[in-house]
Amino acid sequence: MNMLVTGGCGFIGSNFIRYLFQDAPDFNGRIINIDSLTYAGNLENLTDIAETFPDRYIFVHADICDAEALAAVFSDHGIDTVCHFAAESHVDRSIVGPDAFIRTNIIGTFNLLEMARDKKLKRFHHISTDEVYGSLGPDGRFTEQTAYDPSSPYSASKAASDHLVRAYFRTYGLSVTLSNCSNNYGPYQFPEKLIPLMILNARSGKALPVYGDGKNIRDWLYVKDHCRAIWEIIKHGALGETYNVGGDHEMENIRLVEMICDLMDDMAPLPGRSPHRGLISFVKDRPGHDRRYAIDAGKIRDELGWTPETTLENGIRATIQWYLDHSEWIERVQSGAYREWIQQHYQ
Ligand SMILES: NC(=O)c1ccc[n+]([C@@H]2O[C@H](COP(=O)([O-])OP(=O)(O)OC[C@H]3O[C@@H](n4cnc5c(N)ncnc54)[C@H](O)[C@@H]3O)[C@@H](O)[C@H]2O)c1
Repeated sequence: MNMLVTGGCGFIGSNFIRYLFQDAPDFNGRIINIDSLTYAGNLENLTDIAETFPDRYIFVHADICDAEALAAVFSDHGIDTVCHFAAESHVDRSIVGPDAFIRTNIIGTFNLLEMARDKKLKRFHHISTDEVYGSLGPDGRFTEQTAYDPSSPYSASKAASDHLVRAYFRTYGLSVTLSNCSNNYGPYQFPEKLIPLMILNARSGKALPVYGDGKNIRDWLYVKDHCRAIWEIIKHGALGETYNVGGDHEMENIRLVEMICDLMDDMAPLPGRSPHRGLISFVKDRPGHDRRYAIDAGKIRDELGWTPETTLENGIRATIQWYLDHSEWIERVQSGAYREWIQQHYQ
């Protein structure tokens, strides 16, 4: 297998590449990771993989909106499988500046599909989000049949990319699968997202900003469980099908932040052991903030035998421990030093 992974230097993409090399004994192929290294792409997430597997892991610095670069990657590396993560992924950023989201998430996906459609690929797997389904009331969960109803420029651009992927299956017979997952958390997540932000602020005694009344509900999925689901879909998922992937761990944001605070009291106490909960501060809500997401992952469980294995408390504890153990990674991300690599090599 020569698998093109797009956005492999981001949070989930780098965890997926790591998962294949370290935890998937039935993966013996090569990975060609193409990433344009936006602020969210960190080549240092995979330094050890690049050193350990020099013949099976190749990095290409390129933009998925650059059709020429894509064509070269497909022909140079005999790509037979695509796993497409690359996206602008932060909702708050999409509200301030939607342009990049339209460009990468829609045009970039279109470029990849165009490149893939005459290549007789074994598989084109597209990673999407539960946010395309919009907001839930107190009852029910998103199934693969739920109508799309996106609320933010981010989720609207992901919805558009999903439609394009399905259209290439129906129109051109491209061997696609899709997965729509809930909120991921775990190692290597950029500190603008809720869980790492709370851990890092709590660690340094800073305020823990929680949107609105804190009662928005998300369904939390440990990233390694998600990576295992993606690999199962690539191997055994039915062509043209979508699989919802969730953690089966719904929780109000405020409860989640309180859980992090309580674990931090134990794992990284503040001076004088003052409780981290005292740092929680409610801030003005984000516009278009969906109230509740919850995934019904029955299809992937029944058809592919996948279920999440990590409980929320164990996953959060492991994630806190990872951030406590990787202060150099955090320091380089927060100071921007991780971007020096790009400057040294390309400017
Ligand atoms: N993080 C979550 O909780 C979550 C939940 C549901 C779905 N998703 C989806 O999973 C995928 C990965 O999310 P993530 O959290 O790892 O994102 P991320 O922001 O951490 O990483 C995105 C990666 O894509 C790269 N990239 C961005 N634009 C590019 C371009 N034009 N060309 C090439 N590379 C580009 C970035 O450099 C970065 O490495 C996305 O498609 C996202 O929509 C994420």
